Amino acid sequence: MKKLTCTLFLLATAGALFAQAQEHPDTRQAYMPPTDPLVIEKLDQWRDLKFGFMMHWGLYAQLGIVESWALCSEDQPFQDRKGVPYTEFKEMYFSQIEHFNPVDFDPEPWAQAVQDAGMRYVVFTTKHHDGFCMWDTKETDFRITGPASPFRDNPRANIAKEIFAAFRKKGFMIGTYFSKPDWHSPDYWSPLWATPDRCNNYDVCKYPGMWQRFKDFTCNQIEELMTTLGPVDILWLDGGWVRPDSTITDEVRSWGYRIPDWEQDIDMPRIVTMARGRQPGLIVVNRSVHGPYEDYRTPEQHVPADGLPYPWETCMTMTANWGYVPGARYKSAEQIVKHLVDIVAKGGNYLLNIGPTPRGTLEPAAYQRLREIGAWMKVNGSAIYATRMWNTYGQGEAIRFTRSKDGGTLNVFAMEWPGSRLLLTDVQPGQVKKVVMLGDGNPLQWDASERGMVILLPGGLREKGRHVWTFQITLDR
Ligand code: GLC
Repeated sequence: MKKLTCTLFLLATAGALFAQAQEHPDTRQAYMPPTDPLVIEKLDQWRDLKFGFMMHWGLYAQLGIVESWALCSEDQPFQDRKGVPYTEFKEMYFSQIEHFNPVDFDPEPWAQAVQDAGMRYVVFTTKHHDGFCMWDTKETDFRITGPASPFRDNPRANIAKEIFAAFRKKGFMIGTYFSKPDWHSPDYWSPLWATPDRCNNYDVCKYPGMWQRFKDFTCNQIEELMTTLGPVDILWLDGGWVRPDSTITDEVRSWGYRIPDWEQDIDMPRIVTMARGRQPGLIVVNRSVHGPYEDYRTPEQHVPADGLPYPWETCMTMTANWGYVPGARYKSAEQIVKHLVDIVAKGGNYLLNIGPTPRGTLEPAAYQRLREIGAWMKVNGSAIYATRMWNTYGQGEAIRFTRSKDGGTLNVFAMEWPGSRLLLTDVQPGQVKKVVMLGDGNPLQWDASERGMVILLPGGLREKGRHVWTFQITLDR
């Protein structure tokens, strides 16, 4: 055992070094594009939307702490149980079902504010790792409509269904976040033994019946998501450590969690066949498990250094946390707009997360950011939506590019105001028919320069934009 641990440690260390040596660990293993024509079509539509809204909401909001992870015995830097002994803490956490009562919950104003901000799809946590279900599942009482929940008789008790209905009315694509690991299920974390880490706490070869029950439970729950909440576009599966052994690569080992001696194969072929039978064309994102069930990739809390040649989405929080934490600091609208531009220029989508409060509201700071982002999107959205990566994603730190799908328009984003001249080294003046700044619309003059072209910026133009200025170039083709 010691030898094995030692080998694993060495592998983990080697993996970490390898990850550091490679600039884009995501690209090391080939992306597998979908083959189903309906999925291909939906994925292309999804890529056009660019900007999505994510919500993490569940019992952790009631406590105002990190989402689920405080339940995990692994020593995580963010998990502060304030000295409460583990078993006591677990009991206290799970008993929040008796207190979580979001009486102010109304998804209509959320959908309105989020649409006005320019977002076009939504991903909501139907179940996080703690196992608490935000829809009316028949598979467990640990749900928002369960007998212990004070919210069970509220007309909006089936929270996930209500959220999806409100956003669907606004034309959004609908994404169900679902955690494969379930720390409340006795067939994942069996109460017979201690729960030392994030993984299931028994050898599935010794207790195949228990693992089979867990697989059935998972498949049944996902079937409910696909049949009882209306049309669904994306199945967003989190908890990448639940994966077949054959997918455990150096990249996975470099994450540093203890990989168990047994396989946690949840049977994705069965799940996806069932799910696409119910929701034809469904996009499936089995996060971080590279292969046939990861229709797009999902870097978390960061923007990749370079453009990526396959569909991808950065999920990122508006504060420092996924769930609601009282007093959290919100990122500025400017920072969020700059992330959006950087991501879209690199060929990705941006999934921006807010955690609703335990009463069922979004904080005023969140609405303020949404309004400010919306004002920017209203002016500059045509350079974001339905665009694709240009020859290069940018020029240094200050310039980003996108192009229209037909290649007839090149959009140039200035992350800082360039002064009176905007030098573009990668654009030849001979290709250019017309240049305007969005928010202004008057044709701008340009010149050839030794190193490309220069757009001349008259005084007073700067004030017509904010945060990031977009120059739209019509190309002569
Ligand atoms: C991670 C975390 C989880 C969070 C998710 C969001 O995988 O486990 O807590 O929900 O990322 O992307």
